[in-house]
Amino acid sequence: MKALILVGGFGTRLRPLTLSVPKPLVDFGNKPMILHQIEALKEVGVTEVVLAINYQPEVMLNFLKDFENKLDIKITCSQETEPLGTAGPLALAREKLIDGSGDPFFVLNSDVISEYPFAQLIKFHKSHGGEATIMVTKVDEPSKYGVVVMEEGTGKVERFVEKPKIFVGNKINAGIYLLNPSILDRIQLKPTSIEKEVFPKIADERKLYAMVLPGFWMDIGQPRDYITGLRLYLDSLRKKASVKLASGPHILGNVLIHESAVIGEGCLIGPDVSIGPGCVVEAGVRLSRCTVMRGVRIKKHACISSSIIGWHSTVGQWARVENMTILGEDVHVCDEIYSNGGVVLPHKEIKSSILKPEIVM
Ligand code: GDD
Ligand code: MG
Repeated sequence: MKALILVGGFGTRLRPLTLSVPKPLVDFGNKPMILHQIEALKEVGVTEVVLAINYQPEVMLNFLKDFENKLDIKITCSQETEPLGTAGPLALAREKLIDGSGDPFFVLNSDVISEYPFAQLIKFHKSHGGEATIMVTKVDEPSKYGVVVMEEGTGKVERFVEKPKIFVGNKINAGIYLLNPSILDRIQLKPTSIEKEVFPKIADERKLYAMVLPGFWMDIGQPRDYITGLRLYLDSLRKKASVKLASGPHILGNVLIHESAVIGEGCLIGPDVSIGPGCVVEAGVRLSRCTVMRGVRIKKHACISSSIIGWHSTVGQWARVENMTILGEDVHVCDEIYSNGGVVLPHKEIKSSILKPEIVM
């Protein structure tokens, strides 16, 4: 089977992290977002993943080359010269997606994280005989998503409304699809939205089905949702593979610490923290609800909560970093500094406190 991941876009809502790498390569739970997806696709027998991309394809391909071998899966690129939306890229990659087998193919939004229950999706898709299956999940605020109204028993979709202005329902499109090759005959090679132009039509013809996604789901394309997503991800890791989580008197709740990270004496870490490879966390540090990316040093008695610390940054001793502070790559926060929601661009040195949420360029 084949899969296409919709990678396009500049990931502006995840800046400053996406100033250093394309969004799918931003680490989440100690590995680039897209690897979570590729690994799960490999597990259900996908042999080729096509990245639909309109920005920095070399960076992505160079990075993923290693994983092609490690995971034994083919990773190719389908590059747009103009953004083709969420359906146009399928037309562009047509030849790659059709392999003569008649098998359906996966399509994923690149910024959604879940347990990727692809095996169940395949089973459901085969059972209903429709043309397309989308996964749906319940959310409290459906208006920023695609909303799906479906028949409870069968999963047959009655309506698909992208970003509705009035309340339609609370089941939303999770950005994970399994589509029959015939869907390609509905899509032309031009900027097209699968949510606005393709799904509503298939729903009208009663050939679109939805399956409620078991387990957690989050679109992690924005800092606040990224931090919530990490909590959900670690929760699910606790249930499925708790040995991967850290334990000990200095750990609270769910914490992921890379084996090469060094943790000093008297720290208190958790809940909902991930610490990447090569990090050094000095003595007496307090960390909660945060992501600390590869190569970061956190000096003595610093305190970090609800924040993301980008690659190779340092946080000085007795510093206090909180409230959705996002440090880009290679940022240096001096000793005793306070950051309340600072969003700091790469390669900056922070010498005075950031008292209210603001962007530091
Ligand atoms: N190749 C390519 N070209 N990819 C694109 C383009 C494009 O022109 N435009 C968007 N994408 C990719 C994005 O990178 C992302 O992976 C996916 O398509 C969806 O785009 P978003 O910009 O993240 O859309 P959204 O989050 O507002 O809404 C979508 O996702 C929701 C779930 O998170 C829709 O699919 C909604 O229906 C859905 O509920
Ligand atoms: Mg999104």
